[in-house]
Amino acid sequence: MRTLRRATIAGIGKYTPERVLTNDELSKLVDTNDEWIVQRTGIRERRIAAANEATSDMATKAAQEALDRAGITAAQLDVIVVATCTPDFNNFPATAMLVQNALGAPRTTAFDISVACAGFAHGLDVGAQFVETGRAKNVLVIGAEKMSSVVNWEDRSTCILFGDAAGAVLLQPSDDESGLLASDLGADGSGACLLNLPAGGSRHPMTPELLAGKENTAHMDGKAVFKFGVKVMGETALKALNRAGMTENDVDMLVPHQANIRIIQAAAERMGLVESDGSLSHKVAVNIDRYGNTSAASVPLALYEAWQDGRVVEGNIVVTIGFGAGLAWGANVIRWGKLKP
Ligand code: ACO
Repeated sequence: MRTLRRATIAGIGKYTPERVLTNDELSKLVDTNDEWIVQRTGIRERRIAAANEATSDMATKAAQEALDRAGITAAQLDVIVVATCTPDFNNFPATAMLVQNALGAPRTTAFDISVACAGFAHGLDVGAQFVETGRAKNVLVIGAEKMSSVVNWEDRSTCILFGDAAGAVLLQPSDDESGLLASDLGADGSGACLLNLPAGGSRHPMTPELLAGKENTAHMDGKAVFKFGVKVMGETALKALNRAGMTENDVDMLVPHQANIRIIQAAAERMGLVESDGSLSHKVAVNIDRYGNTSAASVPLALYEAWQDGRVVEGNIVVTIGFGAGLAWGANVIRWGKLKP
């Protein structure tokens, strides 16, 4: 349980590119079909950023909405944290710098967090600590990804999964009971090779051969990552709830990382968030059908939609869960505050 002043979500924003890529369109690129993709993943379509639209562009739009909702200007920001595994530039500068410049937030410190699909869970916890310790009053935490830029469009086992998007929250000191109550974060680097982008870093600097072999795209052992997701999602959520002095019975809304509907179903079952016929409870946020896996953007995007639909209201206990490359995972328990509609 946190003892210092809590960090509450005072603003939220999202951005999704206009271009919709359907399963039928994908079936013209690779040997797949709508039925297989829907049954095995739950995905019907995903959004794809424009060629000239980078991660920081999407992040900036989501961030600006979060600032507007909180009623503050970028000049009042203290910290910008961007969780992404598809930065504008491979090595430097950090994408957060580009967001800082685009927003016009000269006072801030700004840095990226690289924990793939668990990025937002980590970003939220790190961002909250700036507020809790009194180091900052306005902290922007963004999850943003252009996954389409790292996908091998000839690999049917991965290209069907991913999409592009951004989501952002503004954290401020809480003056009521709302805020981040607890988190659980974890890592298992022994699984680093299960999901990675092999070339372009210091291990394998880019060469024409590596490029020709598409080693600059995401490689994944889908089955192993699936098993890991099923195991870790429920575990990390229950640990975070325990730290908050709560159980699964206290959850008003579960916002799981949108990687595969079958993984979401397993997590929901573990937490007792299914109806008597086995279907998902209305307390589980699902939008994977429309966006696919948007990595670090997935949780804030699903959280935004659940809030906008009126399914998350003041006082609710919201549990968010992320997991992915690393391997890494994380969950946050949040008591929802008063947000401007
Ligand atoms: N269309 C049609 N058939 C396909 C497709 C496709 N798109 N992809 C694979 N298949 C075939 C396979 O070739 C295989 O055929 P075979 O039996 O003749 O060999 C068959 O379908 C079954 O393949 P599996 O890999 O066993 O399919 P599975 O049910 O495991 O689903 C999937 C694959 C969807 C990738 C699943 O394993 C999964 O979701 N894994 C987790 C991915 C994930 O969560 N990643 C999150 C991290 S993301 C991050 O951190 C950036």
